[in-house]
Amino acid sequence: ERAKAVVLKEDASLPKAEQIKIRDSVASRGKRVKVSGWVHRLRVQGKDMMFAVLRDGSGYLQCVLTGNLCHSYDAITLTIESTITVYGIIHPLPEGKTAPDNHELVVDYWELVGKAPEGEEAFNSKVSSEADPSYLLDNRHLVLRTETYASIFRARAKVIKAFRDHYESRGYTEVTPPCMVQTQVEGGSTLFEFNYYGENAYLTQSSQLYLETCLPALGDVFCLAESYRAEKSHTRRHLSEYSHLEAEMAFVSFDQFLERLEDMICDTIDRVWADAPTRELIEQLNPTFQPPSRPFMRMKYADAITYLKEHDIKKEDGSYYQFGEDIPEAPERAMTDQINRPIFLTHFPAHIKAFYMQRCPDDREVTESVDVLMPGVGEIVGGSMRMDNLDELVAAYKKEGIDPTPYYWYTDQRKYGTSPHGGYGLGVERFLAWLLNRYTVRDTSLYPRYPGRCAP
Ligand code: 4AD
Repeated sequence: ERAKAVVLKEDASLPKAEQIKIRDSVASRGKRVKVSGWVHRLRVQGKDMMFAVLRDGSGYLQCVLTGNLCHSYDAITLTIESTITVYGIIHPLPEGKTAPDNHELVVDYWELVGKAPEGEEAFNSKVSSEADPSYLLDNRHLVLRTETYASIFRARAKVIKAFRDHYESRGYTEVTPPCMVQTQVEGGSTLFEFNYYGENAYLTQSSQLYLETCLPALGDVFCLAESYRAEKSHTRRHLSEYSHLEAEMAFVSFDQFLERLEDMICDTIDRVWADAPTRELIEQLNPTFQPPSRPFMRMKYADAITYLKEHDIKKEDGSYYQFGEDIPEAPERAMTDQINRPIFLTHFPAHIKAFYMQRCPDDREVTESVDVLMPGVGEIVGGSMRMDNLDELVAAYKKEGIDPTPYYWYTDQRKYGTSPHGGYGLGVERFLAWLLNRYTVRDTSLYPRYPGRCAP
C-alpha cells in the first residue's frame, strides 16, 4: 500500500492559511484557515471521500477530505484520536446536512502530527461504556476525552466561576488556607496522618477553623480548597479527596446564616442558568433540570425522625430511627427523594455533631446546624453557627477529648473580640452530581480518589 500511496504537498499558490481555534470557526468562514486538533470521529465514504470531526478543546469541526487527500499513507491509516493539522476553507453546509455549527472545512491540504494506535490498543476499546468501571478509571486520562466527560468538566469550571462571582458580588474575600495542618475539625477517625519533618501532621478535613480566624481581619471570607477524608465508606458520594467550598460570616443570626446559604446556592444556579453555553451543557447532561424554587423547605431534625416513622423508612433491623441517632445515607436519601426538592435539615442534636457547633438558646440539646439535602444525592452542604463563648468552647474540647494546646489560635478567636458567626462547607463534587444528574461523585471529580484508588 505504502508504495502506491500519494505524497501530499501544499499548493503554494493558495493564500497563506491563518491558524485558528475551532471556537472562532464561524467568524472565520470563507477565508483559508489552518486548524490543529484530535480526530474525534472518522467516516470513510468510498475511496475518495473522508469526513473527520476535529476537536481542539474549544469546539468540534467537521472536515471533509476528497480525492488525493484520502490517498496518502497517513490518510489510509488514519485513526481516531490521532492529531492532525488541516488547511482549507470553512463553508456553510448544504441544506439537509448536519455538523457542528452547520458548516464544514473543505480541506485542500493536511498533515499528520501524531498517530493514535489501532487494533487492540485503539481508543474506543479503552473508553467503551461497556467496560467495567475500574478499567475505565484506569483509563481516566482517555475517558476525559469523551463528550460526556468533557461536558462535565467544562460545566464544573463554569460552576466554580459562578461560585466565585457570587461571593465577589456579596463582598466576601477569598483566602487560601493550608492543606497541611495539625488540628482536626470533623473527628479523628477520618484523618490522613503524615510525617511532617518528624512531627505528626494531617491533610486538612476542612478549612473552617482557619476561615474563622480571618473574620476579624477580612470580614466575610470563603475558600475553595481540597479536603481529605480517610473515609471507610465506599459509597457513591464519598471521596478521599474532594473540592470543598467553604464560607464564614461574622455577626449573623442563625436565620440570617440560613438565608445567606440559600442565596449562595440559588444565585450560583441562576448565574450558570443565565449563561447560554453553560445552560446548554447542563441541559445536555440533565435534560429535565429546572432551577429549584425558593424558599427551600426547612425541616428540623426532630421532624425528620417523625417523617421517617410516618413514611415507614426503617433501619436495617426493622426498627425506627429514634431522636438522637444519626440518620445515615440511605434513609436520608429515601426521604429526600420522596420530598423531591431541596431541604434545609436543621437543629441536629449536639452529641451527633462536631464539637464547635453553637447550641440553640432555647433548647441546649440541639445545635444551630444545617445540612442541605438534594434529591438524588442527599447531603451536599454541612454548616452551623459556631460556639462563640470561650468557656463553652474549652468545655467542648474536654468533652470531645481534644487537647486544647494545638488549638490555641482557634481559642484566641473567643478571647480577642468574639462574635456570633457561622459558616458552611459545600462538597463541589456532590453539588455537581446533583446539578448534572451523575450517579456518583466519582464522575464529577477529575481523577477520583477513594479507598483502593490513588491513580492515575
Ligand atoms: O459536613 P462536613 O463534614 O462539614 C465540614 O467539614 C464543616 N467543617 C464545613 C464548614 O462548616 N465549613 O462536610 C461538608 C460537606 C458535606 O456536606 C459534603 O458535601 C462534603 O463536604 N463532603 C464530602 N464530599 C465528598 N466526599 C467526602 N468524603 C465528603 N465528606 C464531606
